[in-house]
Amino acid sequence: MTGEAARLCVTNAKGGTGKTTVAINVAGALNERGRDVLFVDIDPQGNATEGLGMAEAYDSNPPTLFDALTNPTKRSAVNDLIVEHDEMDVLPANIDLLHAEHELTIADLMDKLSGDHPEAVRALESQAINTKRKHISPGYAMGALDAALSALETDYDYIIVDSPPFYGKLTDASIYATQNVLIPALTEATSERAIELLIEQVAALEDHANITVDTVGIVANRVEQTKEDDMMIDWFNAVFDGHPVWEVRKRVALQRAFSAGKSIFDYHQPVDMEAVFLEIAAECDRKFGYTELTQ
Ligand SMILES: Nc1ncnc2c1ncn2[C@@H]1O[C@H](COP(=O)(O)OP(=O)(O)O)[C@@H](O)[C@H]1O
Ligand SMILES: [Mg+2]
Repeated sequence: MTGEAARLCVTNAKGGTGKTTVAINVAGALNERGRDVLFVDIDPQGNATEGLGMAEAYDSNPPTLFDALTNPTKRSAVNDLIVEHDEMDVLPANIDLLHAEHELTIADLMDKLSGDHPEAVRALESQAINTKRKHISPGYAMGALDAALSALETDYDYIIVDSPPFYGKLTDASIYATQNVLIPALTEATSERAIELLIEQVAALEDHANITVDTVGIVANRVEQTKEDDMMIDWFNAVFDGHPVWEVRKRVALQRAFSAGKSIFDYHQPVDMEAVFLEIAAECDRKFGYTELTQ
């Protein structure tokens, strides 16, 4: 049982906004503050998994995270999948996650049709890899990650989920499981639509699942010093009034640390963005009630 682990999803359906970079460095910063972190890579592309040096796990055979998510009899597989990294534990993505959107969509349809259309449900079951009629209940697909995380036998202070760059079942399941979002966004005009859609997606999920999703903050990422950067930061502050808007500058060192398989805190050169990530980690500790530094 993870019991009280604080759960946080780093999300934005736009690709390349810095989800993976922010998730790894927030995890690194929390580790600096003495917290035990589980990093969950639920992006089928497995960028974090490969970046953190776990390419083998990405290509490994079942049962994988896909099975833990889509087969209720395989939830506890999560415990055997965890790989240790110097700064955190990692629940790696796997190539099989490429089937997850399809599988969870079938599960949702089976749920919707389960009352009046037994034939259709049977037909859907025959198209599924893991999903069985007998496992389906309302909210089954949305609850997939929550159920898998609930099967963890190790205690963590934090579970950080790096989500995929698209709207869909995996992202819904990530937001549902964590109910806390940290949103990395580029300081360019294209971010406006991405953020508006994210706000709509979260509102729809809150309504549908009867939950409240908290915004931990926005990470304005790859910030330079142009007028557009300033305008976008003003826009983030206006849209997320009352929530922190952090600024991470464009730094090649962030890419280099990622390529070296670590956060900037474990990188051999100091990087001047450490303070920002430590601030985000400190805000998380405040928000989730971790007060004592335990390092
Ligand atoms: N602040 C930054 N400065 C420089 N490069 C960055 C920064 N943040 C992210 N990147 C780079 O941008 C690319 C996309 O970032 P990534 O974290 O993979 O985004 P996402 O996970 O949202 O798709 C990566 O090559 C990453 O190294
Ligand atoms: Mg990513």
